[in-house]
Amino acid sequence: MATQEKTPVENAQLKDIISHAKEYGFIFPSSEIYDGLQAVYDYGQMGVELKNNIKNLWWKSMTQLNQNVVGLDAAIFMHPLVWKASGHVDSFNDPMIDNKDSKKRYRADVLIEEKAAQYENEGDKARGDALTAEMGKLLEAEDLDGVRELIIREDIKCPISGTANWTEVRQFNLMFSTQIGSVAEDSQTIYLRPETAQGIFVNFLNVQKTGRMKVPFGIAQIGKAFRNEIVARQFIFRMREFEQMEMQFFVRPGTEMEWYEQWRDTRRKWHEAIGIPADKLRFHNHDKLAHYANAALDIEFQFPFGFKEVEGIHSRTDFDLTQHQELSRKKLQYFDNDLNEEGKPYGNYVPYVVETSVGADRLFLMVLCSAYQEEEITEGDSTKSRTFLKLHPALAPVKAAILPLTKKDGLPEKATEIFEDLKYDFNMIYEERDSIGKRYTRQDLIGTPFCIAVDHQTLEDNTVTVRDRDTREQVRMPISELKSYIDKAVNFKSIFAKLT
Ligand code: GAP
Repeated sequence: MATQEKTPVENAQLKDIISHAKEYGFIFPSSEIYDGLQAVYDYGQMGVELKNNIKNLWWKSMTQLNQNVVGLDAAIFMHPLVWKASGHVDSFNDPMIDNKDSKKRYRADVLIEEKAAQYENEGDKARGDALTAEMGKLLEAEDLDGVRELIIREDIKCPISGTANWTEVRQFNLMFSTQIGSVAEDSQTIYLRPETAQGIFVNFLNVQKTGRMKVPFGIAQIGKAFRNEIVARQFIFRMREFEQMEMQFFVRPGTEMEWYEQWRDTRRKWHEAIGIPADKLRFHNHDKLAHYANAALDIEFQFPFGFKEVEGIHSRTDFDLTQHQELSRKKLQYFDNDLNEEGKPYGNYVPYVVETSVGADRLFLMVLCSAYQEEEITEGDSTKSRTFLKLHPALAPVKAAILPLTKKDGLPEKATEIFEDLKYDFNMIYEERDSIGKRYTRQDLIGTPFCIAVDHQTLEDNTVTVRDRDTREQVRMPISELKSYIDKAVNFKSIFAKLT
């Protein structure tokens, strides 16, 4: 049984973030009491709130803000021919190589890419680029012996054993398979879906017809996907069980490039609107396109381990629908009335598809990395360091904490009254243990934007102090104003306003 990977986390900042996520209830290794399961994680009490907020925001941004985008929730299990049609059975592979001394398995392309990055870091970008290009050609020609020779020629060694005692390179399919059916003879091999997109493609006509959708229109879906990743590193960046948020946008053939550009810009704006600094995001255009795509790019974020993909924008042509049409022998065409009215030569066609595909977990990691702050603060003569999560208030797991200054004099009763009133609108915490300073610190660590202190003055004039997580400044305000004050900051509207 493969247990939680023990490879060292290369990066000190990432290490701090992983510890923080565990210590404050965001992310736990799966089945931890049994030493974990490699590249599988559980979301704790804070993590599930943050992740749900991220997913809700994406869902509403897609389906509520766009009249022509609707949702879907397809099953994880699908007919095995789906994966034949999509190309996953034959070519959803990674080239892998094992080191005979350490018995460790690596992705051959990743070993070479890391060598290329090393050349670039040493100032020899041209050499790095040449190496990547050479590898690209070999992989395209499916010359796996050539890939192995390249690894040997570049003197790439296993980081664990330090040797270059490599096996041959083999292709490894990333799909998990299982059996459906109770009796052995009747059972059939099926796959855990490696992407959610195919559930959308096979339901394209169901949604189009029942929803009377007119092209261009989109179908959005959030759901689990599974890949037997060989390189399972960098925490929740690359997992074996993860969640995707995908949207397939069906368009007239020939118009796909304008929609591709539009969705590219819309999605980048979305990442900026949730508080990711623009200089930490970049586009990475794919030079080498998959056989079904006529344009593709990644939106990358600067993680502590470098710029890496968070979201893919792909113009997938009519590849998937045409493939499903062929294997299922069912027509997946759209009759375009408008084209007929415009006197154009054809009314029936298989639409082209522009896809936006983002991993909920990878987005979570981006949000966490971006929010994690350490700062020095001076109080009187002393300086101390403070760690806090500067999450966008709309994404923060808890919106406000209600804190009676003491446990007596009627303050808990008054604080409870406020809590009971606000809990219908916001996810709140009531806390009366420990000093007020310690309680502020605890809320900072989970990213609660507001701490509401109830003190003796509250009993006299119905006012409270509201402490801001980021500035640590406190303002006094009437209890009656709390709801609108918090709502202004935490409502998704504050993000939606930046998207138009
Ligand atoms: N339908 C297209 C598709 O699946 P992809 O680039 O393979 O494209 C899309 O995946 C997104 O899914 C990635 O940008 C990433 O955010 C997320 N993703 C893919 N593999 C992942 C993994 N093993 N762990 C976590 N997230 C993953």
